[in-house]
Amino acid sequence: MRKHIKNNVSWVGKIDWELRQFHGADYSVNHGSSQNAYLIEEEKTVLIDTVWKPHSTEFVDNLRSEIDLNKIDLIVINHGEVDHSGSLPQLMALIPDTPIYCTANAVKSLVGQYHHPEWNFNVVKTGDSVDIGNGKKLVFVEMRMLHWPDSMATYLTEDNILFSNDAFGQHFAVEELFNDKADQCTLWEEAMKYYANILNPFSPLVKKKVEEVLALNLPIDIIATSHGIIWRDNPAQIVEAYHKWSQNYQEDQVTVIYDTMWEGTEKLAHRIVREISLLSPETRVKQYNISKTDKNDIMTQVFKSKAIAVGSPTVHQGILSSVGGWLEFLKELKFKNKKAAVFGCYGWSGEATKVLRKELGEAGFDVVEPEIRCSWNPRPEDLEQAKEIAKALVG
Ligand code: FEO
Repeated sequence: MRKHIKNNVSWVGKIDWELRQFHGADYSVNHGSSQNAYLIEEEKTVLIDTVWKPHSTEFVDNLRSEIDLNKIDLIVINHGEVDHSGSLPQLMALIPDTPIYCTANAVKSLVGQYHHPEWNFNVVKTGDSVDIGNGKKLVFVEMRMLHWPDSMATYLTEDNILFSNDAFGQHFAVEELFNDKADQCTLWEEAMKYYANILNPFSPLVKKKVEEVLALNLPIDIIATSHGIIWRDNPAQIVEAYHKWSQNYQEDQVTVIYDTMWEGTEKLAHRIVREISLLSPETRVKQYNISKTDKNDIMTQVFKSKAIAVGSPTVHQGILSSVGGWLEFLKELKFKNKKAAVFGCYGWSGEATKVLRKELGEAGFDVVEPEIRCSWNPRPEDLEQAKEIAKALVG
């Protein structure tokens, strides 16, 4: 059912309370999510985006209960990813000639996914606009790599609404929809998690795009995202946050991340945490066992950290697969301007710290010299070496 946003603009999306994983199983969803689609009913009727394929029947039925589908004059697809375009095939089967406004790259992704080159695509680029009557226009702004090459935002004049799609969104189910109604703590935690895990690799482009949009001096009363809440109370706050997050963001935090076989490496992790806290009591220190903590939530902590320490015991002349898989993900996220230290126990050959050093270097971290490479179970003198790591990370 529709929810009123402003004047003749309604939300017609899906609040997905049950969602627990996104991008396959690559992104954990702790508080549900939503796929936000919007209906604008001026002289022309416009649908902005759709919802994920599993909800397509519900979406089309709901839409049909609100309006005569044949009255839709145009559909805007801000981004071709399946969570926003997944209901198009079912909808287009009912209204096959309806114009679809999207970027040239979105045509590629939509045709690639749904195999309907005959759909009535209207390619737009930044600055193009469509008159929708009653003195209002839709103005398109390409948002290349926020977060796909096909992404764009759509601005509705007079109502001053920016339909930003993924940008500024969060995986967060909020029935009341608006940011001023949401639990603020969860909202900001989820907004940062979304940025850290999805947008961080594109931070230089995010900064440029945010500055480009701000330079347009468009009055923006509402930012209507495609996931989570709609920013109506001071929408500039999330734009400012993105600007800050896109510039090698860090807080006074150190995060210690490890896995352990027989608790030796875990003892090292505990001691590193303690030494950091003793040396720099104002620094926030966190410790996570990779096998027991969600990988996306650890990444949010890495995003906030000025330094990390990563530990693994040696196994098969390498590191534990849990740590190896996590480091692969870490490389993808392209964090910058952060220090790292390595540690780990071994019984025989002891290659883990060397492997960790190499992997963290490749992930863009400044790997400090002190490390703990400990044979068998840590002795007091092994644990004492945590002081040098602490000094190198926060000294
Ligand atoms: Fe929400 Fe990139 O899809």
